[in-house]
Amino acid sequence: MKKTSLAIAVSAVCFGISLSAQAANISIACGGVGKELLLCKTHAGAWAKKNDHTVTIVDMPKLVTDQLALHQLNSRNNRAVADVIQVDVIWPSLLADDFIDLSDYVDEETLNQHFEAIVAVNQVNGQLVGIPWFTDLGILLYRKDLLNKYQLPVPTTWTELESTAKKIQKKERLAGNSKMWGFVWQGKASEGLTCNALEWISSYRGGTLMTQQGQSTVYNPPAIKAINRAADWIGTLSPPEVLTYSEAEAREQFEQGYAVFMRHWPRAWHLSQLVESLKGYVGVSVLPKGGSSGQHTSTLGGWQLSVSKYSKHPDIAADLVRYLTSQSVQKDRAMEGSYLPTIKALYQDQEVLKKFPFFSELGSILENNTMVVRPSNVTGKQYDKVSRAFWNAVHSVLSGKANARDSLKILSGKLEQLKSE
Ligand code: GLC
Repeated sequence: MKKTSLAIAVSAVCFGISLSAQAANISIACGGVGKELLLCKTHAGAWAKKNDHTVTIVDMPKLVTDQLALHQLNSRNNRAVADVIQVDVIWPSLLADDFIDLSDYVDEETLNQHFEAIVAVNQVNGQLVGIPWFTDLGILLYRKDLLNKYQLPVPTTWTELESTAKKIQKKERLAGNSKMWGFVWQGKASEGLTCNALEWISSYRGGTLMTQQGQSTVYNPPAIKAINRAADWIGTLSPPEVLTYSEAEAREQFEQGYAVFMRHWPRAWHLSQLVESLKGYVGVSVLPKGGSSGQHTSTLGGWQLSVSKYSKHPDIAADLVRYLTSQSVQKDRAMEGSYLPTIKALYQDQEVLKKFPFFSELGSILENNTMVVRPSNVTGKQYDKVSRAFWNAVHSVLSGKANARDSLKILSGKLEQLKSE
C-alpha cells in the first residue's frame, strides 16, 4: 500500500527562550479525504504552532477496511503508522494492545463531558485506549426540491421510500434526467455494508449480529425479510453498481444530482452543500422504519484518537489528542464540516443547532442509546471476522448468488464457530 506523508511547516514562536530541546515532530493518521483532512491539518497545525512542535499528517487509505488492514500489518511488525491514530469506533478492542492508556492524561470531568456509550467503547481491559473525537449515525439525505416538485412527503417507512423513489426516478428520467436513481447507499462488500444491513434488520426488529451476551439472533423471519427487500432494490431503485459503492461512490452519485435519496453519515450533508446545484435542496431525516411495527434506527459509527505505544513522545502526542478532542475543536468541526460531536453540551449549543437543526434529533438518539451498536466489544479480536462474515453473507444475497434464508442460516453457524476459536 502506498503511503505518502505531508509535513506541515510550522513556525516556532520562541519568545526569546529556546524551546527546541522539547520541540517534537508528532505524526497523526487522520481522515484522508477533503474537508476531513483539511480540518485535521488546521487544528493539529494550530496546536503545533501554539506549543512549538511540528506535525506530520500521514496519508491513509480511503476505505475503513483498508485502514484497519494497514494498522494490523504494522501491529504484526511492532510499529505504528503514526504517533496519534484516528480509530474507528469498532477498533479499540482489536487494536488496544498497540495503544497507551490515556487515563493519566485526561481527568474524570473532561471524560464525563462525552456520551457514556462512546467512552465505554474506548475502555478495554480497564484501560482508556482512546478519547472520542466525533461520532456518526446513519441518516437519510433527500432532495427537498424533488419531493416538493412532486408533492411527496419525506418517507417514514421503507415501503414509502420505495414508492417515492420509484415515482421520482421514473418521472425525472422521462423529463430527460436519464441517469436518475431513487436510492443510493453503501453496498460494497465491506464495513459500510455491515452498517447499512444492521440498520435494515434492526428497522424490522430482526435481532442482531451478536448480543452483549454473545448470542447471534440474526437468523429470523424479519431479518430475512429485511435483506430480501434490499435485494429487490438492486436495479429497480438503486443502480446495480451500488454493490460496489462505499461512502465515496454513493456521495458522488448523489452530488452529481443522480439520486433522490441517500443513506450516509452526517458529514455528507455539509459536503452536499458545497455543490452549487444542491445548495439549500438537501434535507436530512432518520432512516425509515420497517413497517408500522418497525423502528427508526441508525448504526453508531464514529472515530476516536489514540496514542501509539510505539510513539517516542507519548506525553506530547497525548497533549495533541487532548486538544483535538476538546469542546472548542469539536464545535469547530461541527460548524465547519457537520461532524457530530461526542461532547453532550454541544447538542444544546444554539449556534450549532441553528446551523444543523437535525443534530437535536441525533443527540436524543445518542442520549437515549437507541442506536445499533456493532458488537466490537463483545467479539473483541474476532470483530473483523464477524463483520466480514456478515457483509459477505448479505452481499451474496444482494448480488443474487444466494437467498437470504440460507445465507443468514449459514452465517449463524459461522458465528457460533467463531465463538469457539
Ligand atoms: C464511517 C463510520 C465508521 C464506519 C465506516 C464504515 O466512517 O464513522 O464507524 O465503520 O463509516 O464505512
